Amino acid sequence: MKTNKKATPTIIVIFGGTGDLAKRKLIPAFYNLFIENWMPENFAIYGLGRTELNDDQYRENLYEGLAEFSRSGVPNEEQWNKFKESLHYFPSNINDEASYKELLKKIDEKDDAWDVRSNRLFYLSVSPRFIETSTKNISSSGLASDKTKDRIIVEKPFGYDKASAVELNKMLTQTFDEEQIFRIDHYLGKETVQNILAFRFANTLFEPLWNRNYIDSVQITVAEEVGVEDRGGYYEGAGALRDMIQNHLLQILCMVAMEPPASFDAEEIRNRKYDALKAIRRIKPDEVHHYAVRGQYGAGWIKGEKVPGYREENGVDKNSNTETFTAIKFYLDNWRWQNVPFYLRTGKRMQEKTSSITIQFKPVPHASFPATQVDSIKPNRLTINIQPQMDIRLRFMTKRTGLEMNLNPSEMIFDYDTGSKQTPEAYETLLLDAMVGDTTLFMRSDQIEEAWDVISTIQEAWENRDSLDFPDYPAGSWGPETAEALIARQGHVWAVNKHTKDKK
Ligand code: BG6
Repeated sequence: MKTNKKATPTIIVIFGGTGDLAKRKLIPAFYNLFIENWMPENFAIYGLGRTELNDDQYRENLYEGLAEFSRSGVPNEEQWNKFKESLHYFPSNINDEASYKELLKKIDEKDDAWDVRSNRLFYLSVSPRFIETSTKNISSSGLASDKTKDRIIVEKPFGYDKASAVELNKMLTQTFDEEQIFRIDHYLGKETVQNILAFRFANTLFEPLWNRNYIDSVQITVAEEVGVEDRGGYYEGAGALRDMIQNHLLQILCMVAMEPPASFDAEEIRNRKYDALKAIRRIKPDEVHHYAVRGQYGAGWIKGEKVPGYREENGVDKNSNTETFTAIKFYLDNWRWQNVPFYLRTGKRMQEKTSSITIQFKPVPHASFPATQVDSIKPNRLTINIQPQMDIRLRFMTKRTGLEMNLNPSEMIFDYDTGSKQTPEAYETLLLDAMVGDTTLFMRSDQIEEAWDVISTIQEAWENRDSLDFPDYPAGSWGPETAEALIARQGHVWAVNKHTKDKK
């Protein structure tokens, strides 16, 4: 988030270097930073894994990933040839301290050649069960010997519930200081999500209205078309509540609900987000059914193609009780947001991939227009489309051109496609921030623990009581009917579904 970001010499070590994340996201992100001149003059990336590969084989594998997944497409030969010189593979055993000492030798050689003590960035893209061993070995081998230069990035899931997250935080802080720990939530790196801060705090127009006096309700939808793909094994133990709500959706809620920060200092921004999490009213165990809805997809059709139900996916129990859809109504107990419902909803295998925030303003207090027109007055609505559509839309009423006073909703639109060339991927932003040591867009330990706390009663209620009606929504729909009922109780409808219907 800083404006002047060039990193000093950096060595990046990716645990899980042969994994999907490295291939699809991390290496493409480093490559794009490289071709756009954000990487330091001296850098090296070591991919770690158990497979026996040499540097050339590893590079070939990553080249394929770049060609398929990078936003910049098939790499330019000259640029790739330069970049690949910095890519190395290091076969290793995550449990064996000797491997780490070997790696340290290699890193020291680089430092000697560059005549500098580089920053070291350890990226843990491994199953949570390896976090403890790898962290301890990084520490005991002497790899992370400089607290001002060495950093660790931890991928989600960060814990399984509040207690396990507290344990993990304790364990990590035995080796690293909080400023060295970068808990990643890739939604915070998305351009459209970062823009919420600019939109709210670089304009005077909206902030005076941004409260319970003018806002009727807030909706946050993250709908995916894909199912669980090849991650059935992981997803069975997670479900939509842990996989998406605890992190991505609650983080978006914080961006919408937080108080204005006094500065753009990382701690200041994280404090304000923490305050928002703290203000979320905790749902009591016997109220869970009133505030939260779960669902699971059955077989259905997506874009004319038949797709299997969740229980038929690889790695999934035939009688699985795991939710692939969650909708929750939250309230925040503070002056700004008292009694304003925040509806959060996420699901897999939904009709359309779309993520958006809808801020619904209150209706006008009095309609002075002719009776025939009163019904056409729609309350103002601000829509922040996060992906794949990227724009901000403000709906307001206007007069239809003509001799009569006919009212019509109109929209003012800020469209990213017209305003920017190529949008950086979330991982590019976040990796660059980690290289320069900027923690603003990463989760502090207290934020993570608080986010787990917010969902804990829902987690417990669902774990202790199987859902009898799973699967309860067909793939290609907008989720179970109970989600419509949840929001209809206060006279609301999901804006995104309505938008889709409007378009038809
Ligand atoms: C991940 C979840 O964190 O986010 C996945 O584990 C989900 O289940 C993904 O598909 C969605 O990310 P994006 O950037 O595609 O919206």
